[in-house]
Amino acid sequence: MRDFIKGLPKAELHLHIEGTLEPELMFELAHKNGVDLPFDSIAELRAAYEFDDLQSFLGIYYQGAAALITEDDFAALMRAYLARAVADGVVRAEVFFDPQTHMERGIEIGTVIGGLRKAMDDFADSISTGLILCFLRHLSPDDAVATFEAARPYLNDIIGVGLDSSEIGNPPERFVAAFDLAREAGLRLVAHAGEEAAPEYVWSALDNLGAERIDHGVQSEKDPELVQHLVDKQVPLTMCPLSNQKLQVFPDIRDHNLRRLLERGVKVTINSDDPAYFGGYIVDNYVAVAEALDLSRDQMVQVAENSIEASFVGEDRKVKMLDGLRAYVAGVPVRD
Ligand code: ADE
Ligand code: ZN
Repeated sequence: MRDFIKGLPKAELHLHIEGTLEPELMFELAHKNGVDLPFDSIAELRAAYEFDDLQSFLGIYYQGAAALITEDDFAALMRAYLARAVADGVVRAEVFFDPQTHMERGIEIGTVIGGLRKAMDDFADSISTGLILCFLRHLSPDDAVATFEAARPYLNDIIGVGLDSSEIGNPPERFVAAFDLAREAGLRLVAHAGEEAAPEYVWSALDNLGAERIDHGVQSEKDPELVQHLVDKQVPLTMCPLSNQKLQVFPDIRDHNLRRLLERGVKVTINSDDPAYFGGYIVDNYVAVAEALDLSRDQMVQVAENSIEASFVGEDRKVKMLDGLRAYVAGVPVRD
């Protein structure tokens, strides 16, 4: 099954580039840059990857990002991810980055975007990519607007904006101004909602921000009217099962609602969120839920198809990617 999933053409739509920073690269960059990490060894760092909830993860995640300083560091980070994504059958990656995490440390947004873009250009023949700038919701709405203004000279390098970080207590409607600016600039809109917080956050992301996709969205199931809306409007959910397990949203992955929502007609996708921290890249996420929830081959194909359909890639390329997916599935014999 793993080989079938690996070869399945798919899009990754929920991936934080800072969350792909593996301990080895983190220590290498910290050493090179003279950055003091609050961990003495890779083993000590890995041992700290036991999370109670989203907040307990975010503390370590922001500490780790401090190792990234130069344009080349950001390029190295993106190259490592893209090499892995290509090997995992990802044909389109829409990658989140958190500029405020770096700007707070005195790093120019142009350094971040420049490095990420350089690596994306290097991989342009093997994978289609786009960058999504995420606003940190634990910071102020004014900070989000200022970040968008700082990004204005680089808008040709990004395809959209998103909203991430500490969800509970920081509802989407706080960020209407920043999202309005992004919409006026012609960017695509996504938002984390319903990862830990109530379905009202998902409604708010849809109604107030105009989010076209919901990142996570697993708490939507608590509101049948919302689920019906997601089905009717075919709003994609970018789910991340291993993340949900590690952050104790579904401590037992067998309780994950991905299959129920998929069978209810929600446009569900599978993604890896922060793979260096949650123990698995995209194929690992597919395999984990396929095994835990006993997904059929057709359901795995459906999820991969959903991911390409839900991506922001141009229509011509989307059609080619979907053709490639169907050709792959037709060419692999069904076993069992
Ligand atoms: N930033 C990185 N990963 C995140 C997650 N799972 N939820 C919110 N913000 C994040
Ligand atoms: Zn996320």
